[in-house]
Amino acid sequence: MSIRRDRIRDVLKTGSEGQMVVVCGWVRSRRESKTFAFLVLNDGSCQATLQCIIDQNIPGFALLGQCQTGAAVRIEGELKPSQGKGQSWEVHAKKLELYGEANPETYPLQKKGHTLEFLREIAHLRGRTNTFGAVWRLRNSLAHGVHDFFQNRGFMWAHTPIITANDCEGAGEIFTVTSLDLNKIPRNDKAQIDWSKDFFGKHAHLTVSGQLQGEFLALSHGDIYTFGPTFRAENSNTTRHLSEFWMIEPEMAFADLEDDMQLAEDLIRFLCTWAIKKCPDELSFLSDMYKGMTPDEIVKLGESKFARMTYTDAVKELEKATVKFEFPVKWGVDLQSEHERYLTDQVFKGPVIVTNYPKDIKSFYMRQNDDGKTVAAMDVLAPKIGEIIGGSQREERLDRLEARIREMKLPLDDLQWYVDLRRYGSVPHAGFGLGFERIVQYLSGMANIRDVIPCPRAPQTIAF
Ligand code: 4AD
Ligand code: MG
Repeated sequence: MSIRRDRIRDVLKTGSEGQMVVVCGWVRSRRESKTFAFLVLNDGSCQATLQCIIDQNIPGFALLGQCQTGAAVRIEGELKPSQGKGQSWEVHAKKLELYGEANPETYPLQKKGHTLEFLREIAHLRGRTNTFGAVWRLRNSLAHGVHDFFQNRGFMWAHTPIITANDCEGAGEIFTVTSLDLNKIPRNDKAQIDWSKDFFGKHAHLTVSGQLQGEFLALSHGDIYTFGPTFRAENSNTTRHLSEFWMIEPEMAFADLEDDMQLAEDLIRFLCTWAIKKCPDELSFLSDMYKGMTPDEIVKLGESKFARMTYTDAVKELEKATVKFEFPVKWGVDLQSEHERYLTDQVFKGPVIVTNYPKDIKSFYMRQNDDGKTVAAMDVLAPKIGEIIGGSQREERLDRLEARIREMKLPLDDLQWYVDLRRYGSVPHAGFGLGFERIVQYLSGMANIRDVIPCPRAPQTIAF
């Protein structure tokens, strides 16, 4: 016997009067009168709930007492136009079945209006709230949109490794992957860990970025993108950092910084338009609740060109600012999120692409500019969040790249395969990384990045 059912989303969209439907879901509320009751169901397929009328004469009516908030039920019934406001359809039940009760004494989602902090402690149940129902569906749609965007532009989705021996960003913020017995760590004669005895014969760790491998795939296939999890052992307890996050990294052969910026802007604008098309109910709910961008503002963002500014001009703008920053600014310092937000929220009132950063605050692989001081880097900054994209044109000149790796005291031996790409058929190429959670944050208006991924990983945080 099959228990297949109709999704509430489909019932509401394509239902017709008198149609027999089977809906399964979790009870949001129950109201009883003498001879019948209302059960309001949500099944996670859409923002809306579906009201079901349970008459005392139907099979299963006796179960009604157990159908409390949070209980899982199955209802077969007939679709009728709803009298209630805000509802197009309701179900007149012919049969009620109960799958799982939810004890009202202990089920944590009794009342509305729990804090996001509280909901983080019950991450396994928070998807049943309106807020997280909306955020997870938006996240799904944006992921779909990312693939749609790149596939339609002829980019190949490339799968780069999760375990690697290369630290792409060179910042040492890595999680070691080992099968060594931690109670008996082998050491060499200098008392250093002898990684040659480890599983891979080298110090391996979780990847911080798929870029380095993405580059060799671009140098055989032209335009590629990665979309996968990345990991950073950065001890930052902020509302924009996770230890495990998803990143989208396009890499284009035969492309420069200008092409890179255009792709970044096109992608974000595409995702705005896509999100409005796919998740209108979710976005209007979230904007009412959390005061992020309104749906109209998202539409407008999808249609507007992004401001652009060099790092040097950005610093001049920040030095002119009358507000007092916690971290003082001068040419050469890395922009802090307070600076980024000043530029987006105060100066441009929208996203801005900042280019040509000082080479000393950026990664080794970025293409060195002729001024000897800056590199062909670009960051896309978004209001309230700051950096959502970081990218660059890559250094394609063998001698320049090797010199930079030496200068920065990075392990040239381990990077030989990467340097090799400059030896055989090197071409100008460029790419960027979009933090997936940051774009979900931007479009959903959620203030904390831990509320846009189902199971957030952060320092001291790994439940669920
Ligand atoms: O600027 P990042 O470190 O750049 C790279 O990793 C390059 N290899 C990308 C490339 O050129 N292919 O990271 C890229 C983006 C950031 O702009 C940010 O959106 C996101 O990844 N990001 C994080 N998101 C959440 N939590 C963190 N700890 C993040 N660190 C970076
Ligand atoms: Mg960055």
